[in-house]
Amino acid sequence: MEIGIIGSGKMGAGLGRLWAKHGHHVMFNYPRRPEKLGAFAQEIGPDAQWGTPRDVVRFADVVLLAVPWSGIGDALSDAGSLDGKTLISCVNPFGPGGLEVGLTSSAAEEISKLVPGAAVVEAFNTIFASILYSSADLFGDKPPTVFYCGDNPEAKTKVADLIIDAGLQPVDAGPLQNARYIEPLAMLMMELGHSQRMGADIALRLMHPAAATEPLKGAEELAGSRS
Ligand SMILES: NC(=O)c1ccc[n+]([C@@H]2O[C@H](COP(=O)([O-])OP(=O)(O)OC[C@H]3O[C@@H](n4cnc5c(N)ncnc54)[C@H](OP(=O)(O)O)[C@@H]3O)[C@@H](O)[C@H]2O)c1
Repeated sequence: MEIGIIGSGKMGAGLGRLWAKHGHHVMFNYPRRPEKLGAFAQEIGPDAQWGTPRDVVRFADVVLLAVPWSGIGDALSDAGSLDGKTLISCVNPFGPGGLEVGLTSSAAEEISKLVPGAAVVEAFNTIFASILYSSADLFGDKPPTVFYCGDNPEAKTKVADLIIDAGLQPVDAGPLQNARYIEPLAMLMMELGHSQRMGADIALRLMHPAAATEPLKGAEELAGSRS
């Protein structure tokens, strides 16, 4: 796959590196401060490609947006048209007081409003970036879950494949609106990792009973009880 990275920081560099190792072609946007390029280029290795945000979008079928919440407007306007692209958002709407959107919207939905021609899929929000740089067997044979959600089935299939290629377990969490549930979970992970001092080597995994071959029974009843 041709993958573009907008926001080549901890998440963007970590995921881009894993995808490149898996044989995908990855283009990163240049850091805004040129002095950062040296160390980053060294970390990614000789196969990294670089470009402006517009080059990245032109190059890619799938674009990862991995900038801080406060930077989404600028980043998307620098990127130009994303019509027809799959846009993965790992952006959490964190501000100094906690989540800045929730209940009636989410970062992913706000991003989708800014780029209505793109198929936005939320993913990777609850994974600490440090895990992307860890040994593949950090969690034995039970990789952490990446909940992903979106409204375009074809785009979601591509993202599920990229989650597997990053060595993680994809779990389809439904439509994009369910980003309202994923982003608070990311806030919980931040709270556990930092305020509760559990560190960044922690992750979530959705468990099924060992013998289950079908989706968990009881899910329909649970959905009924919430309506
Ligand atoms: N870190 C985690 O563990 C983690 C986990 C899950 C989700 N997330 C989410 O992932 C996103 C990125 O987090 P991060 O930890 O990777 O942050 P980071 O290391 O600070 O990297 C952010 C990157 O975004 C770039 N950036 C900022 N504004 C930009 C713009 N207008 N155009 C292009 N690039 C821009 C920065 O570029 P410069 O270097 O040029 O400033 C930097 O490279 C955040 O929304 C965060 O909530 C983070």
